[in-house]
Amino acid sequence: MEKEYAISMRGITKRFGQVVANDRIDLDVRWGEILALLGENGSGKTTLMNMLSGIYQPDDGEIYVNGEPVYIQDPKDAFEHGIGMIHQHYKLIEVFTAAQNIILGLDGEKMDLRQTNRKVREICQRYGFDIDPEMKVYDMSVSQKQTVEIIKVLYRGANILILDEPTAVLTPQESVRLFQILRNMKADGKAIIIITHKLHEVMDVSDCVAVLRKGEYVSTVRTADTNPQALTEMMVGHAVTLNIDRPRYPKPEKKLIVQNLSVVDGEGIRRLDDVSFTAYTGEILGIAGISGSGQKELLEAMTGLMATEPGSSVRIVEGAKETELIGMSPMKIRRSGVGMAFVPEDRLGMGLVGSMGMTGNMMLRSWRKGRGIFVKKKEPKELADKILSELEVVTPGTDYSVRKLSGGNVQKVLVGREIAIQPQVLLTAYAVRGLDINTSYTIYRLLTEQKMKGVAVVYVGEDLDVLIELCDRILVLCAGRVSGIVDGRSATKEEIGLLMTHAGREDER
Ligand SMILES: Nc1ncnc2c1ncn2[C@@H]1O[C@H](COP(=O)(O)OP(=O)(O)O)[C@@H](O)[C@H]1O
Ligand SMILES: [Mg+2]
Repeated sequence: MEKEYAISMRGITKRFGQVVANDRIDLDVRWGEILALLGENGSGKTTLMNMLSGIYQPDDGEIYVNGEPVYIQDPKDAFEHGIGMIHQHYKLIEVFTAAQNIILGLDGEKMDLRQTNRKVREICQRYGFDIDPEMKVYDMSVSQKQTVEIIKVLYRGANILILDEPTAVLTPQESVRLFQILRNMKADGKAIIIITHKLHEVMDVSDCVAVLRKGEYVSTVRTADTNPQALTEMMVGHAVTLNIDRPRYPKPEKKLIVQNLSVVDGEGIRRLDDVSFTAYTGEILGIAGISGSGQKELLEAMTGLMATEPGSSVRIVEGAKETELIGMSPMKIRRSGVGMAFVPEDRLGMGLVGSMGMTGNMMLRSWRKGRGIFVKKKEPKELADKILSELEVVTPGTDYSVRKLSGGNVQKVLVGREIAIQPQVLLTAYAVRGLDINTSYTIYRLLTEQKMKGVAVVYVGEDLDVLIELCDRILVLCAGRVSGIVDGRSATKEEIGLLMTHAGREDER
């Protein structure tokens, strides 16, 4: 193997029981290069990287580091070969300082804190990190915690860095800063592998892109020679259309009025603070924010799943009539014309009955219809068929137990059902989480169709590029408050990013 390669993987195979997570994968990363590892959810990216970081061992195949064959037994072993991985979930101890976390697990002789602080400062200076080694983790933002994780592997001398979806928890500005640091490391000769779903980031930061599909290696291309469309087609294995039309609805009217909505959780922490906004017919109102900024509480409060503070009001408008939803059960709220398609971690947790087929689940929803929900009446079977064909649900039939479908397919049924019954207000959260890009675009088009039928669509999303492309207006949440509402057609990611971190807020009380 050539020494210009920091890492070469050959014929790597990894099985978990029946699942072949990695099937004879080849991968090369050069020194001084940033490689983006791309693939849909479940395509085997994390598994492949976990074999470099010593968490798993391959069932078959060879790994070479700097041209030499290696056997990586555990994470410590990986460090000895210069490989450090920053995982999706951080493992820091909250009551420790940055420096204490950084040396955690190292031999006693290296435990001189003063020396550690000095070395940490050196690393910061060299690559452009901005962190105080004596800061306690509980005082840190997510981005600062990530910084500590990165310094931790650099401190151990890693010259091959693997980052698993590092930007998922960052604002656009923080991502830009991280990319600058990655470029500095690259200039220093390090090899970097970054997993990200955001194609514009891939185009922005990487030198090469390796694509996996369903556990198999597709190919590696130079970033300069490719584009998002081509990469998507490599990921999904067929042609795709990646664009969203954003037609304007002729006569928007007030449909959902939210006023002074506040929520205090079981621990007495104020999770939503005086949130007010109006959603109109014929618009998609996006909700943006760093994860955990109150999105979940907002949805739960609006749908009767979470108690609200006195003075909170959520009203649905029908002509001259306004109906207060606060105090109603989730079922009654649905009957008042509110469709809810939330995609939590456990997709079956949200309103589908696993043992029933698609048709059964459609019936379940239609039985509960009340006055005025349906613009059009549709037979459950017809609905199930429509969803099956439009969203390409992979199932032996509409009577096949939903529980036995794969996660992505369950989600299509969930979203499809709420869309198909044509509510007045459609609340969606993470509607495309875990779906392939092509299906995601199908969902965006269906939501837009709903909007043009006069539905007020609320779309809680994670991807700012999509929010900006899809939504008519975008409301930004920061620490449980509305930090701004911007026009989707003119907003920039930078502007939304500032609002996400509060910096754009001027009416501070
Ligand atoms: N520890 C495990 N046990 C069983 N199956 C696993 C395990 N880790 C991953 N898998 C399976 O391997 C496949 C690839 O998963 P993963 O590497 O996490 O994909 P990605 O990171 O690309 O989303 C998936 O089908 C996943 O369910
Ligand atoms: Mg993964």
